[in-house]
Amino acid sequence: MATVLLTGGAGFIGSHTCLVLLEAGHRVVVVDDFSNGSPEALRRVSELAGLEGWRQLAPDRWVAGDGQPALLTLLKGDVRSPRDLDRAFEDREAMGDGGIDAVLHFAGLKAVGESMGQPLRYWDVNVVGAVRLLEAMGRHGCQTLVFSSSATLYGITDRVPIPETAPLQPINPYGYTKAAVERMLADVAASTAGWRIALLRYFNPVGAHPSGRIGEDPNGVPNNLFPFLCQVAAGRRQRLEVFGGDWPTADGTGVRDYLHVMDLAEGHGRALETLQAAPPQLLTLNLGSGRGHSVLELVRSFEATNGLTLPYAVVERRPGDSAISVADPREAERHMGWRTRRSLADICRDGWAWQSANPEGYRGSDRQPGRSLIQVQPVS
Ligand code: WQD
Repeated sequence: MATVLLTGGAGFIGSHTCLVLLEAGHRVVVVDDFSNGSPEALRRVSELAGLEGWRQLAPDRWVAGDGQPALLTLLKGDVRSPRDLDRAFEDREAMGDGGIDAVLHFAGLKAVGESMGQPLRYWDVNVVGAVRLLEAMGRHGCQTLVFSSSATLYGITDRVPIPETAPLQPINPYGYTKAAVERMLADVAASTAGWRIALLRYFNPVGAHPSGRIGEDPNGVPNNLFPFLCQVAAGRRQRLEVFGGDWPTADGTGVRDYLHVMDLAEGHGRALETLQAAPPQLLTLNLGSGRGHSVLELVRSFEATNGLTLPYAVVERRPGDSAISVADPREAERHMGWRTRRSLADICRDGWAWQSANPEGYRGSDRQPGRSLIQVQPVS
């Protein structure tokens, strides 16, 4: 059992990973500024993990799990703040005398389009934040880190599937910040002995926990396909716009490697265990299914799985998009025995269970899973 610090652990990937770690018997401390996450997500995680006694002890501190130290501690904080980070590393009530054994770094900004208009904000949060985190880990003698990286740093490539050895050619500030942090972590690992680091390059994480209690809750209008599609199904958006019907793919629409968020969360658990069980190393791994699906294939699967008809229209391509992005996931299987286990239908079923029960995300009240607010009809 380890005590693990999750930065950004109240967000989409972080909350699902928090649940997997608690269920594996780890103790978890979360630091999150709630810019893209909420305490409610972790209250529900504590319920799903069977922890008693979720309670708020201070304006910026929550705990769950009877007994001392708590099994789950949530601290409101900014990863760029040394004071907030030291508070997490020194929270004796959260971890007793053992300290933090490992860090999973999720905190960061991740919207490609937004990064084009706010590059400095992305460099500050994603890169300066990572520098402050590494400094804090150094102050507290913690040298085990799993970093939330992204396939976006491969840029536009005609490699299908994409191996970890493919050139890094990011095409937007978001991708550049991910590449910069990967470079920084490689430099840190080379400069000081003892670092155990896993760089996990996510392809397209989608779906939700099958309970429908936790899921993706993007701020504002979703940039990504799956949450937007779910909001169309729930009646929050009028129709889906398919960005391009003339790509060099089987049906002309973009192909991506969609992986279930629970597979991704389990991949983080495996990465942590793999790092702890082996000598110091720096692992770079693609996390994807290795299978590509087009936009229309995802739409059809969602309709068939959930008995819905989704209105959509094919429109112009989105600037910066590529035709196909699919992972070569063999290294993740070779190094940590991980591969995706859930299907596209599982993704669609679980994503809808979350969206239909929480049409307004964590801000609204719960509803019965599986019911759309309105019956949507196809656009002729
Ligand atoms: C998927 C497909 C679109 C929206 C981005 C980031 C990546 C990762 C995942 C963080 C594409 C099409 C989309 C819509 C559409 N995030 N689409 N209508 O662009 O593959 O990857 O999110 O790491 O880093 O780059 O994901 O979901 O935006 O797009 O037709 O309303 O859906 O053209 O083919 P993407 P996406």
